[in-house]
Amino acid sequence: MTAQPIENLSGLDLRAEIERLRKERKAVILAHYYQKPELQDLADFVGDSLELSRKAAETDAEVIAFCGVKFMADTAKILSPDKIVVLPDMEAGCSLEDSCPPEKFKAFREAHPDHIALTYINCSTEVKALSDVIVTSSSAETILQQIPDSQPIIFGPDRHLGGYLNRKFGRDMLLWPGVCIVHEAFSETELLKLKAQHPGAPIAAHPECPPHIVDHADYVGSTSGILQYAKTMEGDTLIVATEPHIIHQMETALPSKTFIGAPGADGNCNCNICPYMALNTMEKLYLALRDLEPRIEIEEPLRLAAKKSLDKMLEMASGTIGKGDLGAR
Ligand code: 13P
Ligand code: SF4
Repeated sequence: MTAQPIENLSGLDLRAEIERLRKERKAVILAHYYQKPELQDLADFVGDSLELSRKAAETDAEVIAFCGVKFMADTAKILSPDKIVVLPDMEAGCSLEDSCPPEKFKAFREAHPDHIALTYINCSTEVKALSDVIVTSSSAETILQQIPDSQPIIFGPDRHLGGYLNRKFGRDMLLWPGVCIVHEAFSETELLKLKAQHPGAPIAAHPECPPHIVDHADYVGSTSGILQYAKTMEGDTLIVATEPHIIHQMETALPSKTFIGAPGADGNCNCNICPYMALNTMEKLYLALRDLEPRIEIEEPLRLAAKKSLDKMLEMASGTIGKGDLGAR
């Protein structure tokens, strides 16, 4: 990852400038829960991958400024091709997307012609085009349950989400060996030490976590699901095993409760900040709205091919409200 050069913007009231440009450009600002608090606070909508996809498909704004990572902005462009979609930093990728090069995925599919490809949305547009149905962490369970047990399935690129679904539903999906570097960094030893200090506090984990973390969780679900769990749980303290910027939403909505980020091996959770999400800043959002760059462009045949598996997701997930999701184990 290389940072983009930034011109000197000191002296500018970035928040006011972004507000002005949002109106001028008829733009909507969409943000994921892993974004810096200042970006979440000025977004028109903050959500998980499924909710953000739905918002992008529905919006009548002329510009979508996407504060998230590239596969999320690509999804917005695939679903809303007539909009200008800008991503504040084009280097904001994802380790899961990187783990799954399209040509290798294509060869894997060709080696298993009787399998359908159920693919996590954290992948490239090319991999979406090679897939049958896309899932997010909040729609995976609903969608998998609509596929007969007898149907062989390839699941990629996240082997932890796929493994979790296999265990929960007794499936034997073939798993692509990708992982999220952020969720991989949680330490079981440190988590158990933290749990011993807060014995009554439940643990909520994202299904991208490895089994040695998920197995200790009282709740497993998408970012929106974890947020919903925080709102409905009994108790006043929650241990959160996902990217810690989501805690901003929890503390805003639930100021009387305590939220503790699950630790990495060094005993704190700084290693669990997503380095890709962190590339987006107020400065870069301002420049993206001002210059309408960096802009997502996707060739039409590729977009149409990828849209099929995304449309299938939206259709099969139509009963998913974006927060019931994977639920308690
Ligand atoms: P959600 O869909 O649960 O928000 O997950 C997105 C993601 O990238 C998690 O690492
Ligand atoms: Fe990708 Fe992990 Fe960052 Fe989510 S947290 S965007 S899966 S690297």
